[in-house]
Amino acid sequence: MSIALCPGSFDPITNGHLDVIRRAAGIFDKVLVTVFHNPRKTPLFTIPERMQMAREATADIPNVEVDSCDGLLVEYARSRGVNVIVKGLRAVSDFETEFQMAQMNRELEPSIETMFIMTKTENLFLSSRIIKEIVFLGGDVSRFVPPVVNTMLQKKKEGS
Ligand code: PNS
Repeated sequence: MSIALCPGSFDPITNGHLDVIRRAAGIFDKVLVTVFHNPRKTPLFTIPERMQMAREATADIPNVEVDSCDGLLVEYARSRGVNVIVKGLRAVSDFETEFQMAQMNRELEPSIETMFIMTKTENLFLSSRIIKEIVFLGGDVSRFVPPVVNTMLQKKKEGS
């Protein structure tokens, strides 16, 4: 069975992430969407909140499983029998970081490959960071995120 891992902070999951997940689910038998703790970022949502949003947003894709991890990506991938790490690539600006992570992950675990899915043009400009900024400045992000995320973002804004 081919198992792909789509890792990320998913703070929160956007339509851009969902497009990559959906396309990966069409290629691999199973896709793990795993919410990682990223020590370089201060998240808006807790890991359980991010998992809940990812679960609801992917509920219609039968071969997707949502999970979380606060450890090393390659250790997790090995423990879950993952063959391929799948990442979305938006623009040249993503390339340097993604290239560095892919190289390092291969050093750490040569048997796991990293593959990139090029984002659709309409999602080129999308990022979780920009979505949060727009919401907190009073903008409408409903066409960029799944409904559950839009609701959760509004709740966070009202509670802040
Ligand atoms: O959505 P993000 O924040 O761009 O995702 C980054 C993520 C979570 C994929 C990356 O930080 C990661 O792989 N974290 C797991 C910890 C790890 O293995 N770090 C070394 C990567 S070379």
